[in-house]
Amino acid sequence: MFKFASCVLLLSALAPAADLAGTWQFEQAGRGGGPARVTTFVFKVDGAKFTGTYATPSQAYSIVNGVVAGNQITFQTTDDYAIPPRITNYQGTLEGEQLSLAVVRPAQANSPEAAPPPSMTAIAMRSASPEQAALDEAIAAAAQAGRGGRGGGGRGGPPAPMVLKRVGTGTVFHPTPELTRTHLPFPPFKMIPPNGLAKTPPMGWNSWNKFAGRVDDKSVREMADAIASSGMRDAGYIYVNIDDTWEQGRTVSGAWVPGRDKDGNILSNDKFPDMKALADYVHSKGLKLGIYSGPGRKTCAGYEATYGHEEQDAKTWAAWGIDYLKYDWCSASSVYDGAEMQPAYQKMALALRSTGRDIIFSLCQYGWLNVGEWGAAAGGNLWRTTGDISDNWQSMSRIGFDQQVGREAVAGPGHWNDPDMLEIGNGGMTATEYRTHMALWSILAAPLLAGHDIRTMPDYIADILLNKEVISIDQDPAGIQGTRVKQIGPAGYTLEVWKKPLAKGVAVGLFNRSLDTARITVKWSDVGITAENPKVRDLWNHRDITNAATEYSVNVPSHGVVMLRVE
Ligand code: GLA
Repeated sequence: MFKFASCVLLLSALAPAADLAGTWQFEQAGRGGGPARVTTFVFKVDGAKFTGTYATPSQAYSIVNGVVAGNQITFQTTDDYAIPPRITNYQGTLEGEQLSLAVVRPAQANSPEAAPPPSMTAIAMRSASPEQAALDEAIAAAAQAGRGGRGGGGRGGPPAPMVLKRVGTGTVFHPTPELTRTHLPFPPFKMIPPNGLAKTPPMGWNSWNKFAGRVDDKSVREMADAIASSGMRDAGYIYVNIDDTWEQGRTVSGAWVPGRDKDGNILSNDKFPDMKALADYVHSKGLKLGIYSGPGRKTCAGYEATYGHEEQDAKTWAAWGIDYLKYDWCSASSVYDGAEMQPAYQKMALALRSTGRDIIFSLCQYGWLNVGEWGAAAGGNLWRTTGDISDNWQSMSRIGFDQQVGREAVAGPGHWNDPDMLEIGNGGMTATEYRTHMALWSILAAPLLAGHDIRTMPDYIADILLNKEVISIDQDPAGIQGTRVKQIGPAGYTLEVWKKPLAKGVAVGLFNRSLDTARITVKWSDVGITAENPKVRDLWNHRDITNAATEYSVNVPSHGVVMLRVE
């Protein structure tokens, strides 16, 4: 029996190998009227082993460790945008001219502590709006490469198989124009000096969290008006940043249209008829204007991005009067290897500098490849550290409490970790939770980019965002990112003490992530205060605290914070 089984295995391992060789495709209808999305697998077989290429419309990956056993195949794809490189496991069943393939997810893929991929939250936010549906390419690439997303059944469910058809016998991959790399090799990456901007973490507003694809000229002007009239401008919220979907490159129904004029100049779409006039208006309010693009061919929402036009786009933005650029990786994996990420960002930093205009440079690549170690050298004033935030306690607290610790050494004046924009005022958290969001971001010395509709801001949200005592912690001139000094309780439900050394004194955050009110005590010696009887100020209640000579104990509500300045 044993012999028979080994014989069958041996024969089957040898026999069908030749059947796999060739080019296979899986086709899905394009979303929102866009073109069909074709996923291609090219297999090069050598006996019972194979290699090859896997390509989505926006990204190609190497296939490694392929093995054929009977009509079953297994293989891995790799991508090098993570340390260590991300590996995705596939298994498949070959039946004649049909191949069913599924991603095999490791058990920990659903761990709540795993960093969400860049587009996960964007999918949830945008699934209802057709003009937003075109994150598709980047999402599909990320999801099918095992970085999460909804591909292969999404989180939670078993991966859905793809059924591929053989379209040819060729075993060499021929990239589509989207995947063709046309750039010359980069010069060696070298540290560039600071641009002198963002001495304290940038403050302002960004369109994405509330408006996504609905941002337009009118809403940006109205937001500038509201920032000025609400007191936000005078509290320091200066940058008015337009995120994705201002560009030409696709229509709201998803059809592809040219994103540039005949001379290669990037075009804004109908929502933004005159960017220069908009910048003039925003400047007239005493504010600055930010814009968004990325090093790839397409933005995350599928619009025109900057690949191959870095200097030209930088000049265009400078001529419009742009003061801030968020540069989002998105589909850049289709044209750059992981090793090219640093010089690709640096290329834009240098292009911005050569315009002679002061433009803050914000890197958005979700914290990949230890960006904190090279973001400043690449010319960045700030860099995202995680996937996208969403307007709920789990997302905010996971990013803020769990994914920032250990990054503090790389932050400082001119170069900041960016745990993503604020969700305060968007409705998904309580006032208590939004206070925690504001306090934590301030202790983290994070950029404070509001993301709500300022035109209709209720007073209790204004009280949170305009709390000057808390803002002064974020904007402290020493520019030191705070750290956790104590954490007790079960994971995700802890009581935490944080400190942020200030130019004068220390900010202390007493956070309660548990489900009940809890008493939290801090000893001044634990947060680096040696003075006897220090001056203690409660920054949310705006009152001085007495009788706290060596320590302070206080009841903190569930999901709440008590924030102190101790001198
Ligand atoms: C990515 C970024 C978000 C936002 C969207 C726009 O998901 O992380 O902050 O800019 O793209 O498409």
